[in-house]
Amino acid sequence: MLSFILLLTVLSADFIGAEESSSKKFRDFLQEWPTPGTGPYFDTSVNSNITGLVGKTVMLHCRVKNLGNRTVSWVRHRDIHLLTVGRYTYTSDQRFEAIHSPHTEEWTLRIRYPQRKDSGIYECQISTTPPIGHPVHLTVVEPITEILGGNDLYINMGSTINLTCLVRYAPEPPPTMSWSHNSHAINFDSPRGGISLVTEKGPITTTRLLIQKAVQADSGVYTCDPSNANSANVRVHILDGEHPAAMHHGCSRSTFQSILLIFICMFFVAIRMNPT
Ligand SMILES: *[C@@H]1O[C@H](CO)[C@@H](O)[C@H](O)[C@H]1NC(C)=O
Ligand SMILES: *[C@@H]1O[C@H](CO)[C@@H](O)[C@H](O)[C@H]1NC(C)=O
Ligand SMILES: *[C@@H]1O[C@H](CO)[C@@H](O)[C@H](O)[C@H]1NC(C)=O
Repeated sequence: MLSFILLLTVLSADFIGAEESSSKKFRDFLQEWPTPGTGPYFDTSVNSNITGLVGKTVMLHCRVKNLGNRTVSWVRHRDIHLLTVGRYTYTSDQRFEAIHSPHTEEWTLRIRYPQRKDSGIYECQISTTPPIGHPVHLTVVEPITEILGGNDLYINMGSTINLTCLVRYAPEPPPTMSWSHNSHAINFDSPRGGISLVTEKGPITTTRLLIQKAVQADSGVYTCDPSNANSANVRVHILDGEHPAAMHHGCSRSTFQSILLIFICMFFVAIRMNPT
């Protein structure tokens, strides 16, 4: 409030004092502010929320109307780093590049090999005084590989092991999706037989490994390894129907022990109650 009053005082003093020069100053002052309708402005209908993929070139668009003789720059918000000015790239990071065709309103920032850490706000700026800016949000995501059903899968002996692996947000469908069992590539021509694979490529690529008539030797760790994304693991446990599985062994043994303990206690209680 105080500074505002001071400013007013200074301005009025200026006007009263040297009227000639101050009105000139004031005219300059007005000229430098972008006047709506006459100065440059941003076309805000352009998508300003961009999702990119790790490693896949991403374009941030900025459309400027009425630019006149001003220049358009791209600034990274995180560290106020000037990336491009007009058609020139200023940063030493060669992944960034200014793209502009003469006589167009598009001022594009191209980022090659984007990383997760490139996520954030990028500002398209017009060199008015003061500059005006338009923020563009960039989110860089990484492909996610997942095997459905959790980390452990319990399969009854003799039934089919059905493992489904999904890859989301991959820049393009993985060229190959390989499976391994306890670190050995799965051999579809092995004498074991009954192993098949179905892969469907698309925005979400799925690969389904089917192993029929599960036996104890099929237990262990299965790995799904897409060629352009991280791998995922699942541990398969084969439950033997005739002999209850390890889990059930443990449970029944402890139940047996508890009952035994109760009997021993009752025995001692009985002895104490009848000391003869
Ligand atoms: C853009 O993304 C940001 C952050 O993810 C969000 O807060 C904002 O609402 C989004 N804007 C639009 C127009 O989608
Ligand atoms: C832009 O053009 C105006 C006249 O149209 C001129 O006064 C001004 O100095 C120019 N600015 C730049 C940065 O060239
Ligand atoms: C394998 O599981 C998926 C879903 O988890 C299911 O859609 C598919 O039908 C199953 N395939 C077989 C052969 O059981």
